[in-house]
Order: sequence, then C-alpha cells, then structure tokens
Amino acid sequence: QSFEFEANPTPVDASERGRVLEDPGFGKVFTDHMAMVRWSDDRGWHDAKVMPRGPLLLDPATAVLHYAQEIFEGLKAYRLDDGGTALFRPLENARRFRESAQRMAMPELPDDLFLGSIEALVKADRDWIPSGDGSSLYLRPFMFASEVFLGVKPASEYLYLCIASPAGNYFKSGAPAVSIWVSDHYTRAAPGGTGAAKCGGNYAASLVAQREAIAQGCDQVVFLDTAERRWIDELGGMNLFFVFDDGSILTPPLGTILPGITRDSILTLARDQGITVREAPYAIDQWEADARSGKLVETFACGTAAVVTPVGTVKSRDGAFTIGSGGPGQVTQALKARLTAIQRAQAPDPHNWVHR
Ligand code: COI
Repeated sequence: QSFEFEANPTPVDASERGRVLEDPGFGKVFTDHMAMVRWSDDRGWHDAKVMPRGPLLLDPATAVLHYAQEIFEGLKAYRLDDGGTALFRPLENARRFRESAQRMAMPELPDDLFLGSIEALVKADRDWIPSGDGSSLYLRPFMFASEVFLGVKPASEYLYLCIASPAGNYFKSGAPAVSIWVSDHYTRAAPGGTGAAKCGGNYAASLVAQREAIAQGCDQVVFLDTAERRWIDELGGMNLFFVFDDGSILTPPLGTILPGITRDSILTLARDQGITVREAPYAIDQWEADARSGKLVETFACGTAAVVTPVGTVKSRDGAFTIGSGGPGQVTQALKARLTAIQRAQAPDPHNWVHR
C-alpha cells in the first residue's frame, strides 16, 4: 500500500522551526505531519496516509481509554554529513512492534507498512531533522484500540499512527552521568507479564516509582525482579550495562525486560571488538559490592531516546554508592562513540544497520 499525501496548509514557519531545532529538548515539539493507517476486522489494514498533524477526535467509550490496549515504538532519523537522511535498524522496530501487538492481542502491522509510514513521514518533514551534534528526529509509531465498545475483549478496530519530534538530549540535566534510585517496593514486570512488550501500560506502571526516584534526587528508577527483589531488571525506560575491571561487560538477560535495539547493537559491537559479553542475572547487592571493591568500573543505561548514558551514583533506602569516578567511563564512551558514528554513517557499517 502506498501512502496518500495531504500537505499541511499551515505548517510551522521556517524561522520558528529554526529556533526550535537549535535546542529541541525531548518530546516537546512536533513536526507538521503524521502518518496514519486504519485497521478493522472486516477490512484489514486500509487508508494509509500522511496528513497534517492534529488532534484526534475520540468517543469517550473508545476502548483504549478504558483497557489500555496500546503499543508504541521509538526510533530516530539522522541528518547525515552528505545531506542524506538515515534510519537505524528500522526493521528491528517493525519486528518488535509486531511482537508487542501479539502480546496485546492486536493485529500485526506488516513491516512494509511500518517502514513505509516512517519513510513517508520523514520525507514530508525532513526539514525538521536537526543537524546539531547528538540531535535527531525522534519517531514515535504507535497503535491503539479505537473501537467504541466497553466489553473487555480485543478490539475490532485500531488506529496506527506515527508522529515525529526533533530531539536533543533525553536528560535535561545535561549532567555527565545520571543517578539511579533502587525501587524496593514497586516492580516493573513479572514472568508471563507484559515486560517484553512495548506497551503504554508498562510505562504507566513505572511512573509512581519514577516519581519516587525524582523525590530522592535521582534521575531514573531501577526495577528488581518480582520473586526475590534482588535481580536487576531495567530502568524506567532504558536497559542497563555493567563494565568490569577485566574489560568484560554484562547486561540482564531477556525475558521480562524490554528487548532494546540499542541493547542488541551494543552487545554486537562489543562482541565485534572481542570484548567478553554476558547476558546474565546480576544482583543488586553484588552491584554494590563490586562497585565498592573496584571490580565493577562502569555502568551505563542505553535506549533509543537515552542513547548511551553513564550511571554515576546509585541510591537506595540503605544508602548510596558511586560507580568508578562517578563520571563517564572509558568503555562507555568508546561504545557510545562507535554506535553513534555508525548511526550517522561516519564509520563503516558491517551489519548493514543504516537505512538510507
Ligand atoms: C525510547 O528510548 O525510544 C523509549 O521509548 C523510551 C522512552 C523512555 C522515551
């Protein structure tokens, strides 16, 4: 299916857009267009279009407003040095979007429609891609149950949309490293739950813990497993990596955590470089003991929005500890540089991750 195009008759004017692009922040400003595709049980996917971005009119009985049948994705478009535009591993987002849809009993959007919507939107709004170091156009594909019905069942109608937002740093503090609060009360995901799906509900459930983290003076919350409250799961919206003094790295295994595309890219780049990589459980008390003994030298968070962000301090009800010097570590910085150089087509791309 091709995307019908309806231009926005009243786009943001170029000088206002230029002002926004200088310091876009994260998720605050949006481009002139959005992509949309409809689903109904009787017609399947239909009505693919790129149209002026604007409010949606929803009946108060729209199913998503009640039972939260909703999934989303996050990926970025980069402005390249040669004037071109690139996405990073978009088919991985397409695949995860289908897997999230399966978990939430929603129809799977075919990969060509997912990619087509993004390509059509980026083409329409390419002037919105910032060129500054570390900035990009953040793309947010999402899908929700649009059927007007209060019965608890998978809906028979859905709307898929993609919106775009120029983005700079996710963390507004601009600090060289972020601080983490260990949630001892709230958990994020249990085996058999929705932890591996990118559904809005996971993020809704994280907010009270994230608010606690902020109240404790921290940037992000880290969740532990539901059974023993001991094994490190992930942050409110990012995966975690640990770097040891023997040069090896570790990240929690898949299962209840979000299968991050940045996580997977870091694992691959580290293996390429001959770094010993483990996907294995890591306990919160071990993290502290290893940080104190010097066995653990670095920790970083990663995600599409956060890219690679060093973790400097960890705080819990029992006290606090510092990771390494409390600032960005060497391995973290090197992996970040390697990843971002590939994303911006400034380095060889041995895995064909860049999609022009
Ligand atoms: C992303 O990294 O793209 C996410 O969806 C996470 C969210 C916290 C912004």
